[in-house]
Amino acid sequence: MLKNKNIVLGVSGGIAVYKACALTSKLVQKGANVKVIMTNSAQEFVQPITFQALSRQPVYTDTFDEKDPSKIAHIDLADWADLFLIAPATANVLGKIANGIADDMLTTTLLATQAPVYVAPAMNVHMYQHPAVQRNLQLLDSFGYKFIEPGEGYLACGYVGKGRLEEPETIVKVLEDEEKEIPSYFNGKKVLVTAGPTQEAVDPVRYFTNHSSGKMGYAIARIAASLGAEVTLIAGKTNLDCPPNVKCISITTAEEMYQAVHEHYPNSDIVIKSAAVADYKPKMVFDRKMKKKEGSLHIEMERTKDILKSLGEQKQGQYLVGFAAETNDAVTYGKEKLKKKHLDAIVVNDVSQEGVGFQSSTNQVTFISKNGLEESLPMLSKDETAKQIFALIEKDIKGVHE
Ligand code: PMT
Repeated sequence: MLKNKNIVLGVSGGIAVYKACALTSKLVQKGANVKVIMTNSAQEFVQPITFQALSRQPVYTDTFDEKDPSKIAHIDLADWADLFLIAPATANVLGKIANGIADDMLTTTLLATQAPVYVAPAMNVHMYQHPAVQRNLQLLDSFGYKFIEPGEGYLACGYVGKGRLEEPETIVKVLEDEEKEIPSYFNGKKVLVTAGPTQEAVDPVRYFTNHSSGKMGYAIARIAASLGAEVTLIAGKTNLDCPPNVKCISITTAEEMYQAVHEHYPNSDIVIKSAAVADYKPKMVFDRKMKKKEGSLHIEMERTKDILKSLGEQKQGQYLVGFAAETNDAVTYGKEKLKKKHLDAIVVNDVSQEGVGFQSSTNQVTFISKNGLEESLPMLSKDETAKQIFALIEKDIKGVHE
């Protein structure tokens, strides 16, 4: 149940940090991907390198340690999480998160996450019983956070009572029970996704292409697989790795994409075409490198096949989703494409906007279905955009419009 789950483990500073090390190891053994955030106090007990070795992931300790300029680390980590666990959660951290204080990597990431949050408190029995701590726990309960209550017994401070961090095995068991997957709507569905650019050769060394990085389509394929779908991803040339549990097929030209997509189309339930396919290709491809000449060069271009339109015309029960990359009047043009290509839905992005469409790690899209479901999503990571697209597809197929 925890296999392939992305777990952010927040570790705050108490003697029970040593148990968080064992917990990390047990979660990793269950197949979870674990990224650890340590507070400064936690680092007084154990060095980050311990968690790094156990999780095989970098450990986050500083909000301002931004290693990748294309991302904001705490937002990226918050979006990555399927589940957020704080263990041990000290009285201090409980107080901060109950009151919305975000003054370090752990608390800022927690505020930014939309993943379910689990809190495993650990402290001295009298601290745990203090009305301030109990009030903070109630507040956190009202936020929908779930608790893994501390156990009773001998405490490191010498007292016997409630306050001991629950044993790592028990914490893992609680998470497994709580996170038991209710099979998603997409479980077992055959989802065909296209991604990336096509390349249309002029000669052996030159080609026409576009700015697509493949990030949007790969995110769609990754999320579809995480929802239990059987995913085939047909992609042009990108620098991205094939997502886990996805069958990846690599193509170069629009014609190759046409062939590959049509081969898989009859056996697909849902098709999402986020690839940026060339609309034109050189009419003639030279088999030797063209030599430079004086004056300008004219290359005659001809239309490629419109793959999406052909799919719309040959639909046999598939739910067909197109993308529209526009730079003006995006929704109007998107609606035209929805009709013209006989789609069930279209995802429109205005690629003239900063952080939208090509290359970026974020996107801002409007989902429009032929049944009248229309929803503009906020600027989100591409993974989160993909999650929302699947939620909207499910809503549209089930016909539940608000
Ligand atoms: O890859 P990224 O860097 O993450 O960028 C994401 C993206 C901008 C590529 C993606 O969000 C997107 O908008 N994809 C569609 C790009 C596009 O080609 O849009 P279009 O409006 O030109 O085409 C409309 C639809 O027809 C698309 O679904 C496209 O796949 C399809 N099409 C277009 C031409 C063609 N010959 N055959 C097609 O199937």
